[in-house]
Amino acid sequence: MNILHVSAECYPIAKVGGLADVVGSLPKYQNKLGVTSEVVMPFYDNAFTKSNKFKTISSSKVRLGVFDLDVNILMLENNDLGFDLFLVDIPTLLFKDYVYSPNDTERFLAFQIAVLDWVLQKEKRPNVVHCHDHHTGLIPFMMDQCYKYSELKTVATITTIHNAQYQGWFSHDKVYMIPEFDFTQVGLIDWNHQINPLAAAIKCAWKVTTVSPSYMEELKSNANGLESLLSHESAKCVGILNGIDTQVWNTETDNYIIKNYTQKTLDTGRKANKEWLCKEFGLDPKKPLFSFIGRLVGEKGADLFPQIFDAALHHLDISILLLGSGQKDIEGALEMLTYKYKGDYSTYIGYDERLAHIIYAGADFLLMPSRVEPCGLNQMYALRYGTIPVVNSVGGLKDTVIDVEGGGFGFVHHQLNTETVVETMQRATELYDDQKEFNKIRNLIMQIDHSWDSSAKAYINLYKSLKK
Ligand code: GLC
Repeated sequence: MNILHVSAECYPIAKVGGLADVVGSLPKYQNKLGVTSEVVMPFYDNAFTKSNKFKTISSSKVRLGVFDLDVNILMLENNDLGFDLFLVDIPTLLFKDYVYSPNDTERFLAFQIAVLDWVLQKEKRPNVVHCHDHHTGLIPFMMDQCYKYSELKTVATITTIHNAQYQGWFSHDKVYMIPEFDFTQVGLIDWNHQINPLAAAIKCAWKVTTVSPSYMEELKSNANGLESLLSHESAKCVGILNGIDTQVWNTETDNYIIKNYTQKTLDTGRKANKEWLCKEFGLDPKKPLFSFIGRLVGEKGADLFPQIFDAALHHLDISILLLGSGQKDIEGALEMLTYKYKGDYSTYIGYDERLAHIIYAGADFLLMPSRVEPCGLNQMYALRYGTIPVVNSVGGLKDTVIDVEGGGFGFVHHQLNTETVVETMQRATELYDDQKEFNKIRNLIMQIDHSWDSSAKAYINLYKSLKK
């Protein structure tokens, strides 16, 4: 069976969020299970593409409305990713070093058309085209409806929703850029009088998956306008929990962290990492260290961070370290707090993969007070590294973290407001004060298996069951 994953992001080639981690690891695990799984994504002019070699496997033109644009399909050479990787290079559309930009409609339309043109020519055609998020949302429609792709009608399509907030909508004025189709079918790509690629994918893909079962349930009542569509299509929708790449996320071999450790040496190993963090950010290593890693946006609950952190640092004897970037007003408010709580609170505004790894290896608790969390990978990285998650009970967080009070291994709150989060953080500090119990939980969480093994199988079973 041949699977082709189509995505805007793939780690380590280009990463903005968790989408990249999933597309950079799921295919590797699928290949180990005996199917052939490949990835195709746009070519970005970035550090990865500059420092790696590619072979041009085809050069042609892609038609975008009235323009014929040059397109090259490149294949990564000396590849140790665990799957074949193809890049679609359309030089005139300026896929520069950034992944997303204001002209995404044109960029991703041309990308999707170029992918399908290539699939038509491809020696070994895929049995399944597995699309990720709205950037690839028009592919199931085009395979089903555009005359030039009629040969691909029988190739199965899956769309995985990593985040339904973003839908890629654009105006009907641009519909002429989509290759010719029977115009009476235009309703398939319309939602609320706009072309909506995510809605089109939900309507046209053979199956739709979300990255956790709870998120699928939540979308029926909270999907940024797509609730009724998802409820209507629920028969073809299924939630499959993401996994993590346990080769990359391995405390014994992780090159980024200060000291490697195993479950047996977790105390000394984690201590060295925590001490490094505290020294680097001017914090006291004796206090329990809470951390946050991620985007500073409302979805992650970040608009509440200034109040939550202020109250927590005022009432509890703790330290907080934050790594992330996002809304400028939130960044500003969070930086202001560093003056008030110097020695107990620090921020790194931006993103740094190495620092993220050290935080997982050294912080005591990871905060994830998300409003919406389709799956969330950070809590799984934290668990594997022995950092205890403190989470809001939504989406994938609900599916992966059980509160200590229910016999579990983390801290879960069921409301999102300053008081509840601070109370939950207080419960966490009480565990920290009981070092024996604290170590028992850390030991336990490092043993939880969130590797891709079972979810990669679930996807393969889904591919096998595909019928139109
Ligand atoms: C998105 C979601 C996140 C999920 C990731 C990978 O970034 O916000 O919850 O883990 O995609 O599926």
